[in-house]
Amino acid sequence: MKTILKRKTTISNNDNLILVTSYDSDFSFLNLSSKEYLFLEKELKLNKEIVYINQYNRWLYFIVPKVLQDPNKHLENCRLLGDSVLKNCSNSKQVHIVNLNRKQEDVLAITEGLALGNYKYLHHKTKEDNKGLKRIFLCNTIKKNLVSELQNIIDSVYICRDLVNEPFSHLKAKDLSLAAKKFGKESGYSTKIFNKKKIQELKMGGLLAVNQGSIDPPTFTIMEWNPSEATNSKPLILVGKGIVYDTGGLSLKPTANSMDIMKVDMAGGACVISTMYAIAKNNLSVHVIGLLPATDNRPSGNAYAPGDVVEMFDGTKVEVLNTDAEGRMILADALSFAKKYKPELVIDLATLTGSAARTIGHFGIVSMSQDADKQHSNLKKAGKKTHERLAEMPFWSDYDKLLESEVADIKNIGGSFAGAITAGKFLAHFTEYPWIHLDIAGPSYTKNRYEYRGLGATGMGVRLLYQFIKDYKKYEN
Ligand code: BES
Ligand code: ZN
Ligand code: ZN
Repeated sequence: MKTILKRKTTISNNDNLILVTSYDSDFSFLNLSSKEYLFLEKELKLNKEIVYINQYNRWLYFIVPKVLQDPNKHLENCRLLGDSVLKNCSNSKQVHIVNLNRKQEDVLAITEGLALGNYKYLHHKTKEDNKGLKRIFLCNTIKKNLVSELQNIIDSVYICRDLVNEPFSHLKAKDLSLAAKKFGKESGYSTKIFNKKKIQELKMGGLLAVNQGSIDPPTFTIMEWNPSEATNSKPLILVGKGIVYDTGGLSLKPTANSMDIMKVDMAGGACVISTMYAIAKNNLSVHVIGLLPATDNRPSGNAYAPGDVVEMFDGTKVEVLNTDAEGRMILADALSFAKKYKPELVIDLATLTGSAARTIGHFGIVSMSQDADKQHSNLKKAGKKTHERLAEMPFWSDYDKLLESEVADIKNIGGSFAGAITAGKFLAHFTEYPWIHLDIAGPSYTKNRYEYRGLGATGMGVRLLYQFIKDYKKYEN
């Protein structure tokens, strides 16, 4: 399912209209009856931000966004207004958005909220669902290139949500890597997939240990977007956690409110695929590499066990004390692998800890960084612009001690507190470059509809990364 944005000038009498307006706009072209006009005037005087008029042959939705001082809050309010109107217009197939006299940005943000809120996951519905918008028409005063950029962003958020919503029964590690390849072909980035044999040759011990209990092989996927006019000489690397299902392994999870949503555990990987798609489609001039280690985490006679010692890709020996702390095992190998590219910056995204979700809920992303203060603060700016906000954790060296092991170099769990931070510290052990860690366990998935982020997978992280990469070189000045 896709929501199509299109520029159009002609409007027929039966077309539903979203009118993005001010209080003093000229409404004469709408030929409102005097009763309708009085109603509109009354509602606008009450400072309503949305006024609905049912003209029987069509609906009119007047959106009058209040102007907020903070431009980021203002745009977010516009997205939310777009999503609110959706409740009323999703019985029709299409709607026209007309800009009376507001800023182009406001209209685009309203469209964004409307289109993102319109997403539905229908793959496993055997009966056709006819509800929901198929097309959103925009008046042609909105620039063509901005409409196509927004279309690509919306498509990539949909791709991310579709991948995350797809259950484990239908998405194994191999399927995830093939999805990366397919979206590469569609958008223009290149893809290389390592199979189990290659992963064994490379001695990616973390990925292989987690995969030991599985009947399906692991994959390691490399995506690359390297445009000839790239403004960075050293690449930006995105690393995504690709646990296609997390049972916890032998340290088995309970079912309710835990294992039952663990198809979400590849959301970081899905974000990386979708961001690569968005930047390639929109032809951004930045050299970006995506790394995606993938497997499921399952118990079996052969599964890795608490107490095991695992030799990682970089030679570090890890004492595994909880097989449910598997994300860091596969990410560690990908982070060590990233060193060979001598990256300018590495950002990883992972549904890594319940601790992150408990700390800030689904309202944002837990972040921490090492040797990347400036880039971290730039990423926070992108977070405010897209309302995919970061909450930075302390990353003091005190936490390092919590990972000391009696029998190996490091253990894979910390103590009973600061779980998101000790998970980050474990990853830090495998980095030697400017690095930002994003724990998206809270916002990636929601059981109740969360505004335009929808129900189930939200795709949070994609718009954040796209914005950051788009502004990547601009920030440095
Ligand atoms: N995949 C989970 C984290 C998670 C929790 C994701 C909630 C999405 C929603 C991760 O692999 C995990 O199980 N982490 C453990 C770590 C612990 C064993 C140190 C956790 O957070 O409990
Ligand atoms: Zn786990
Ligand atoms: Zn996990």
